[in-house]
Amino acid sequence: MRLRYMELRNYRKFREAKVEFPDGVVAIVGQNGTGKTTLLEAVSWALYGNESSVVRNGKEGVITTGASLGDTCSVSLEFELGGDGYHLVRSMRGKEMRVDASLEVNGELVAKGDRAVTEAVTTRLGMDHRAFFISVFAKQKDLNALANIKPAERKKLVLRMLGVDFLNDVVTSVDRDARSAKNQAEQLQLLLKDQQGRDKEKLLREDISAHQAELEKIKVKEVAMTGEKLQAAALVSESRALWENEEGRYRLDVALERRLTGLRVGLGSRREHLARLQREIDELRKLSSSLPGLELQEKEYQKVRAETERMNLLREGHLRKQRLEEDIGNARKERDDLETEKEQTAQGLSRLPDVEGRLSTVETSLEETIDTTTTIASQKRLAESERDRLQRSLSESAQRTAEIEVLGEESNCPTCLRRMGGQYADLLRRYTEEQGSISNNLVELGRTIEELEGQRSKNEQRKKVLEDRRKDLLEQSRKVASLKERERKILQSLEIIAERTDVLEKELTAMGVVEYDQTAHDHARRKMIDLEPIHLAFGKAQTILERLPLAETEHRDTSSILIEEEGQLSVVSQERNDLNFDALVLQERKTRYEEVRDKEEKLAQEMVRVDGEKRRLISVMEGLNKRSEELDEIKTRHQALMTDLEMLNRLGQVMRDFKENVISRVIPTLSNVSSDLLSQLTEGKYGGIRLDEEYQMYLYDQGQEHPLERFSGGETDLANLCLRLAISRMIMERSGSQMNFMVLDEIFGSQDQSRKRNILETLGQLQKQFRQILLITHIDDVKDNVSAVLKVTEKEDGSSAVALED
Ligand SMILES: Nc1ncnc2c1ncn2[C@@H]1O[C@H](COP(=O)(O)OP(=O)(O)OP(=O)(O)O)[C@@H](O)[C@H]1O
Ligand SMILES: [Mg+2]
Repeated sequence: MRLRYMELRNYRKFREAKVEFPDGVVAIVGQNGTGKTTLLEAVSWALYGNESSVVRNGKEGVITTGASLGDTCSVSLEFELGGDGYHLVRSMRGKEMRVDASLEVNGELVAKGDRAVTEAVTTRLGMDHRAFFISVFAKQKDLNALANIKPAERKKLVLRMLGVDFLNDVVTSVDRDARSAKNQAEQLQLLLKDQQGRDKEKLLREDISAHQAELEKIKVKEVAMTGEKLQAAALVSESRALWENEEGRYRLDVALERRLTGLRVGLGSRREHLARLQREIDELRKLSSSLPGLELQEKEYQKVRAETERMNLLREGHLRKQRLEEDIGNARKERDDLETEKEQTAQGLSRLPDVEGRLSTVETSLEETIDTTTTIASQKRLAESERDRLQRSLSESAQRTAEIEVLGEESNCPTCLRRMGGQYADLLRRYTEEQGSISNNLVELGRTIEELEGQRSKNEQRKKVLEDRRKDLLEQSRKVASLKERERKILQSLEIIAERTDVLEKELTAMGVVEYDQTAHDHARRKMIDLEPIHLAFGKAQTILERLPLAETEHRDTSSILIEEEGQLSVVSQERNDLNFDALVLQERKTRYEEVRDKEEKLAQEMVRVDGEKRRLISVMEGLNKRSEELDEIKTRHQALMTDLEMLNRLGQVMRDFKENVISRVIPTLSNVSSDLLSQLTEGKYGGIRLDEEYQMYLYDQGQEHPLERFSGGETDLANLCLRLAISRMIMERSGSQMNFMVLDEIFGSQDQSRKRNILETLGQLQKQFRQILLITHIDDVKDNVSAVLKVTEKEDGSSAVALED
């Protein structure tokens, strides 16, 4: 791999930067914190994205602090690998920090999207991000890490860096599998034996053959029983037919007997019925001979009854006529009373002439009197207020006269404010005259008020008289109305009475003369009562005799039925004699049938039992066969496991040998390569490095070996750098990878001038393996010993820039 060109946008400290990567040992120089490490971190971010080993403080820290949400953080990287030109772009944007990426090889898109591009890069470089930092990118402080850890851990770390540690895992895993296979095989072996340690398979085989023999025996027995069962069944059906036949005859016998009993009972009651009928006919015939005597008396009864009914009607007419005469008399009396009342009412009315006219005159006079009283009252109020006014004027005038008299002639006039002088006497005189005139008016007014008062009280008396009068007249008016109403009602009643009387008189006339004889009526009724029992006896006899022809017919019919039934009785008796059923024979046949049936049932039960036993044996056999199959399977699994176990044991041994071989070859190689490097870097001062089995480091000084702790800090750093470079070289050589570029971040640490120069020279010589060695350092004076210098600087706005120095 060789880096060609990179463009950064909003990547950490770089707002915008473009950089060409030359070949050889390239120093990336700049002050602390200018962005040297960032620049090469950007390379790994482009390759692997937001992996934990790439971004030191999470993906949030990658985008330039202060960049706006719309800004995109991106790295565009061009590099060569295996003769192909790669163009890789990775970007991240927005609040969600969505990552997008694309990878083109020789101008052709081969992967798109964050994950897809990382996977493509991993495949093509042959290493994931962890391997990348182990083999290619020595991070700042990594050397210290190698130096500061304990030898055992260092061994682990180095083996991991060299990718040898996986062999450990393989061996452990193979051993684990072998142990597990052995355990399983032992478990299975246990399953093949019983508790007493006997071979389960052998026991099972014996069991199976014993059950098989038993099963055969049962089958033979089953065949024999089937034959027996058939014979028994034939016997059962034969004896059942015989028994059923006898049962049929029994049922017929019972039916015939029942019929005979029925016929006998029927004949008995029919004979009784016939005798009853005969008796009834005899009695009826006797009654029929007594009927002519009764018939004469019945005619007499009918005659008397007609006479009585005629007299009943006459009596009713007689009574009705009496009632009509009574009603007419009452109506006439009522009419006379009303006529009298009518006259009295008319007289009452004539005593109250023209009440309405008088009432209207009184009401008019009353209204006029009230009007006059109102007028007099208002005139009186006017006169009184005038009297009050004059009285006030009189007292004011008197008061002024008194004031002027007190002031005297020399004072000013209280009205015009001029000096009174000669006016004084004049004024007094005028006031005196004025008071005389007011007093006269007051006297006059007093008289007027008195007169008005007199008129008012006269009017009040008149009003009272008129109101009393009006009350009387109103009372009379009400009386007149009541009398008129009574007069109207009397006339109405008279009319109704006249109509009613007319109707009654007409009905009476229509009835004419009614001749009713009370004595004759009583005589006829008594006679009818005397004849009543004969009439009833005649009616009853007539009704009873209607039954005679019916009874005679019924007697004839019953006689012929009786004869018929007697015939039937003898036929059925004959039939039963012919049947000749015997209960003993039936009992015998039934017992015989039950015997053979019980025998057959027992046989059937035995067969069911035998069948159950057969099924049980078959199911036991199935279970045994299944167990036999399971044992076979266990045996097969056990054999397979034993084969696996042997294989795994062999594989474990091979892997262990292989691991030992690899490790045994790693230590001398690492020791040799790092020794060469150290000797070169110290110009032969230190003869070399040795790593013991436990990865403890020893340095040779003047032919003598010393543990690393004996040496200075700078010398220890140098030894670790040599080991790290040796590891990288081994990885490169082993993998045959084309990753011939290396990043070393701040490896100088505590080295002095000449050592730094030596390191640089040595790095220059490593160019056979590494076409590009990118060396990050804040020390400026390396410039002369490297092929090119990329200078990283901080701009005024705080962002960083990178440029290739001439
Ligand atoms: N997202 C970011 N935006 C802006 N600056 C950042 C961001 N992340 C880190 N920085 C700053 O970038 C600076 C450069 O860091 P970097 O590790 O690249 O420096 P360096 O040049 O390698 O320094 P040293 O020589 O000390 O190793 C640091 O000061 C760091 O605070
Ligand atoms: Mg740094």
